[in-house]
Amino acid sequence: MQRPLIIAPSILAADFAKLGEEVRAVDAAGADWIHVDVMDGHFVPNISIGPLVVRSLRPITRLPLETHLMISDPDKYLDDFAKAGSDAFIVHVEGNAHLNRTVQKIKSLGKKAGVVFNPATPVVAIEEIIHDVELVLVMTVNPGFGGQQFIQSMLPKIRRVRELIERVRPGCDLEVDGGIETHTIGAAAAAGARVFVAGSAIFVAKEGITAAMQNLVKSATGG
Ligand code: DX5
Ligand code: ZN
Repeated sequence: MQRPLIIAPSILAADFAKLGEEVRAVDAAGADWIHVDVMDGHFVPNISIGPLVVRSLRPITRLPLETHLMISDPDKYLDDFAKAGSDAFIVHVEGNAHLNRTVQKIKSLGKKAGVVFNPATPVVAIEEIIHDVELVLVMTVNPGFGGQQFIQSMLPKIRRVRELIERVRPGCDLEVDGGIETHTIGAAAAAGARVFVAGSAIFVAKEGITAAMQNLVKSATGG
């Protein structure tokens, strides 16, 4: 049976002055996972949050906290995030000479491991690591900022990743991140994505969080 789609609101677009409240709101509105974007000002040209925020969020929700590490030396911080309450880590293929070691370390901490790649990185970059991970994330914008436009040329890439997953690693999740809104989510779903990160489309939506999440699900399923 096809797994139902999963919505992972990205707190990067939340109002940090009332982060707990906003996370409770997406939880109540039916979010599946909470997507936590970690940026260090080196790997990406922006700085966001660290383990202290994960620690503060941990008692707020029982939803899995998936931690997207956009940082130069992920291995250095895995322990801290794991202790703080992260349930899953998504690490970039780019700039990591020992990605397999990073993935093994995540697993040794008892956490779910995923890999992510930037728009210009080809699918072949995950062919060896895919056997060791439970999730592949295709960036549909260049990482670093919320509120960017979905890069349409990522659709064939999503299809290629879907084919690879079906061929060598069925059951592996396929996630997309960046510019996911009501007018882009349907095409991403049709290309084979099942997990959708959305920041602005949920937290900055005029219609409010609950209606925004319902609209996303409806658009993803063609309703
Ligand atoms: C971008 C982050 C995304 C971002 C998505 O670097 O990885 O998770 O918050 O934001 P939207 O949905 O606004 O494009
Ligand atoms: Zn992200």
